Formats: sequence, structure tokens, C-alpha cells
Amino acid sequence: MNFAIHRFDSVASTNDVALQMADAPEGTVIIAGEQTSGKGRRGRKWSSPPGEGLYLSIVLHPSLPYDKLWQMAFVVSLAACEAIREVSGLDARIKLPNDILINGRKVCGILIESKPLPHSHTPTPPYSAVVVGIGINVNNQSFPPDLNATSLAMELGRTISIADVENALLRCLDARYEQFLTDGFQPILELWKALDCTVGRQTTDHMFEGTGLEVAENGDLQIQSGRDASVAE
Ligand code: BTN
Repeated sequence: MNFAIHRFDSVASTNDVALQMADAPEGTVIIAGEQTSGKGRRGRKWSSPPGEGLYLSIVLHPSLPYDKLWQMAFVVSLAACEAIREVSGLDARIKLPNDILINGRKVCGILIESKPLPHSHTPTPPYSAVVVGIGINVNNQSFPPDLNATSLAMELGRTISIADVENALLRCLDARYEQFLTDGFQPILELWKALDCTVGRQTTDHMFEGTGLEVAENGDLQIQSGRDASVAE
């Protein structure tokens, strides 16, 4: 994939900029030094102070039907986890659906949004532009304790180059996305499972709490027993 990188000192949200450029060619990348309204999943905010994190969004046009778009979460979380491991040497792990944790604390979040393309009435994919937003806590020195977050610097005990993290991330994303388009989802899922920390752990999957047993081929986590997690969240 050819990356066309657009850099900004400050934007509200790199995902919003990428969504506005949804018709741009695949590989269009938006990177900001800070985000003033960084978005997390489920309407949460993503704290994005200058000089501390990597805030990156990429426009993709995968040839996938709508009901398979969820597979992109596995491709991207696998690539992000591998990039973090490579650049830091730390034992980063994936937590469903697509958080990256180190020592049980969140170091990276992923927000995938899609937007129908003007020709989306056609019977063949791609129907939409997929915007993949990735936030990595790189040089943050602390987080409020209730966030259960960490940064690469906090784990390593030294700061690390945000540019190095960016390069590793784009390289890993390119490799795994190409593999996914060529060989399909199964090889990605196998690699993903090897880095997953959800199976065998106490977990909450939207509705239920219990022990994660297995990630099925449709991406669902099978959970053993538990109680209604809406109480726990
Ligand atoms: C989450 O874990 O809740 C997802 C966080 C995603 C944050 C990234 S930072 C770059 C991109 N732009 C945004 O506004 N959000 C994503």
C-alpha cells in the first residue's frame, strides 16, 4: 500500500478528518500532534495531549461486504499489538474487541468507523470507506487511576520516539492488511489468538461477564457462565 501522510499540529479528531476525506485513495493517513476532541469507542473521549501520544487515522477501502467489516478490528488490533511489541520489546496483548494492554493496563485504543461511498448501491464491495483510528499512549507520564491506562514510557521507564512507533505501526498495518486481502481472515485469527489475553481470563463482553473460552470464527467470544454484566459496567 502506498501511504499518503497528511500531518497536522492539532485537529479535533483525526478520525473526523479522515471521514471527511473518505473518498481519498486507500492508504491516506492523517496524523496529528494533538487532538482537541479525540474520540473513543462508545462515545468516550480519548485524551490526546501534544507530544505524548500517536494519534493516527487511515482511510481504507477493503473489498468486504458489510457483514464482514468486523474482521478489520482483528486485522488492525493484531498489527497494532505487533508494532508495540516490536518497538518496545514489551509483552503487549490484545483484549477483545480491540484494546491493546501491557501488564493489564490499556496502552492503545482503536476506533473503526465506516462511511458509505457514493456508489454504495452497487452489488459488489467495497460499499464503504473504512476509517481506522489508532491512539497509542507513548510518552505519557501518568494517568488518573480510574482509567487503568499506561504508556510505553511508563512501562519502559524512559521516553521513546513517537516517529519510531508510527513507522512500526504503518509497516505492521500494511503487512497484515495485505495478508488479510490475499489469504483471508483465518490466518489473521490464528495470529490474533496467539496474542489474545481474553481467553481464559475473567471478562466482560457487552452483555455478559464470565471466563473467556474461545474466539469463534465469527469473532464472537464464547464466555463460560457469569452474570448480567450491565450491572458490572
Ligand atoms: C477506544 O479505545 O475507545 C478507541 C480510542 C481511539 C483513539 C484514536 S486516536 C486517533 C483516532 N482519532 C480519534 O478521534 N480516535 C482515534
